[in-house]
Amino acid sequence: MNQDKSKIVYVCSECGYKSSKWFGKCPNCGAWDSAVRIEEGVQKGTPSLINFESSTSNISIPKRMTTRMKETDRTLGGGVVPGSVILISGGPGIGKSTLAIEYASALTDYGNVYYVSGEESISQILMRVKRLGVENPRLFLSSEVNVDAVLSSVKDKPVAMVFDSIQTLYTSGMSALAGSVPQMRECTMKLIDYAKSNDTAIFIIGHITKSGSIAGPMILEHMVDGVLYLEGEPRSGRRILRSMKNRFGPTDEIAVYDMEENGMIEIPDPSKIFADIDTEDPGSTLSVIVEGSRPLMVNVQALTSVNYKNGAIRITRGFENTRLMIIAAIVSSHLGISLDNRDIYLNILGGLKTTDTAIDLAVAMAIFSSVKKLKFSPKVAFIGELGLDGRVRNVPQMQLRISEAKRMGIENIIVSNDSKYGGNGVKTLKEAILKSFGGNL
Ligand code: TYD
Ligand code: MG
Repeated sequence: MNQDKSKIVYVCSECGYKSSKWFGKCPNCGAWDSAVRIEEGVQKGTPSLINFESSTSNISIPKRMTTRMKETDRTLGGGVVPGSVILISGGPGIGKSTLAIEYASALTDYGNVYYVSGEESISQILMRVKRLGVENPRLFLSSEVNVDAVLSSVKDKPVAMVFDSIQTLYTSGMSALAGSVPQMRECTMKLIDYAKSNDTAIFIIGHITKSGSIAGPMILEHMVDGVLYLEGEPRSGRRILRSMKNRFGPTDEIAVYDMEENGMIEIPDPSKIFADIDTEDPGSTLSVIVEGSRPLMVNVQALTSVNYKNGAIRITRGFENTRLMIIAAIVSSHLGISLDNRDIYLNILGGLKTTDTAIDLAVAMAIFSSVKKLKFSPKVAFIGELGLDGRVRNVPQMQLRISEAKRMGIENIIVSNDSKYGGNGVKTLKEAILKSFGGNL
């Protein structure tokens, strides 16, 4: 199409709101002095004709490329789709650049790959490349930050490119600063356009702040084909890569990594590291959650202690706080134990975060066992959601969960009566107690 006239628009640098008139205060998000003047191309005249060359019977689906990491490939739905644009987001220092350079190196199996980093100098990137042992004649580095300069210099239709990070990139012809919403949006649009017309897979790295604010990257999430979110406790080496959006595969898949001296090492069987199945300590229980298509056995730990002074504290790690409050209320009203003057600390072992309600029952059992200082009988796991009425409810993908528990050597799998796939069925929380402590009660 011809671009023979341009139009001036004003875009809010905070939220991306667009208007043909200048504004002092953004009518959308209320930010002051955030209007940025942008020249937009306006198409005029007859549009050029497109060619419907492909009927559904002669289009071939492009072959996916492997990252040489089975876990990432699975998370992406079977590898990287040529021409797709993937946002890798996560907090500072979590390992985004490390992971991306490992992907970049793996994708040289298919052709040239460019790694463009405005974050670091060439020699810094090179040091990382050497540390990871991924030097490769088909892997090219640049620390250019002008996206137009990069894209017009690359003439060989690379199979993949990495831009580290979107916050450092800018496109000329826009007065907004690099890292502002309009710049990030415009640069991403250019990258998407390039990816689609050259069949180049593009990874865009986007930082989020410590508090989890992802104002910029969040807008980008709507534009890209896939979003991989890297999370973990910065102090520990455990990392979880989560697929938050995927146009070419399932979402909510996770891959587990350990960040080691020479890169990210994948953990092929995470149940083995998240669950200590021999645990018999009071307050420690097992459950099976499902992340994407993968069942994961996890340890749920509760610690309760009497607090005479202040209001009782509820602290959780890896689990929603309000959910703990609800479960604590269910435990006290249906099992008749008072938790009013007890602090409860709840932890999902291994830095895992989950919203899967299948661990409700395990949480309740952990609290009960901690308060009563009771050991569970060995090799018992709990899979079920709890209702306010104290009933144990069935959860989806029960078959998958039960077979994972069996694979891990669990003998007594306590589930809802409504489960059609076996396990030790119970109706209520109270019944679960009777069936799990054996002679210890
Ligand atoms: P990095 O990939 O730079 O994080 P991000 O791009 O998300 O900010 O990695 C951050 C930290 O990881 C850095 O402090 C050094 C450490 N690291 C390793 O532990 N192993 C490695 O192989 C590499 C390259 C870095
Ligand atoms: Mg980085």
